[in-house]
Amino acid sequence: MEQLNKDINEVLVSAEQLEEINKRLGEQITKDFEGKNLLVVGILKGSVYFMTDLTRYIDLPLKLDFLAVSSYGSGTRSSGAVKIIKDIDIDLQGYDLLLIEDILDSGRTLDYVSRMLATRGANSISICTLLDKPERRVVDLTPDYVGCSVPDEFVVGYGLDYDQKYRNLPYIGSLKREIYE
Ligand code: IMP
Ligand code: MG
Repeated sequence: MEQLNKDINEVLVSAEQLEEINKRLGEQITKDFEGKNLLVVGILKGSVYFMTDLTRYIDLPLKLDFLAVSSYGSGTRSSGAVKIIKDIDIDLQGYDLLLIEDILDSGRTLDYVSRMLATRGANSISICTLLDKPERRVVDLTPDYVGCSVPDEFVVGYGLDYDQKYRNLPYIGSLKREIYE
């Protein structure tokens, strides 16, 4: 990954740590959703790496679906305006929904998405985010499952992008400021 590594300031969550997070969260989710009707919904595109690795540690029958939203453009700060680009395909009636997000920042994206989905008759809606930047929150939203907290720096890798790049880095790192400033 030399061509991508050179733009990274610091490794914040290593590939080994990501594996441990997935195992821990997957086992917890397995306990919590035992006997429920689990539908895992990934928010595209950032959650894809996390979702595929995490669900391999969930030892339950489950279904997958995806939702795509936009709020960021190519900048590093949320615009606040969330737009649904691709809706889920499955009718939510009777499902216990687990929303999968890459990172919870202001909280606006997940707040909007969970409110929208809450009107569709699911049994329950839970939120699982790989990363959390708690000091950046502007809406009152507490995730049910968190991989780990990260400092208020722009991070990329393992699904997270800057201008659609760096998603394929196998770890989470902070991006060098000169790349986005
Ligand atoms: P929020 O709506 O402000 O909570 O923003 C959440 C979305 O912003 C995430 O789904 C990410 O796509 C994006 N985002 C926030 N912080 C970062 C970051 O440090 N790196 C990459 N994407 C980020
Ligand atoms: Mg995202």
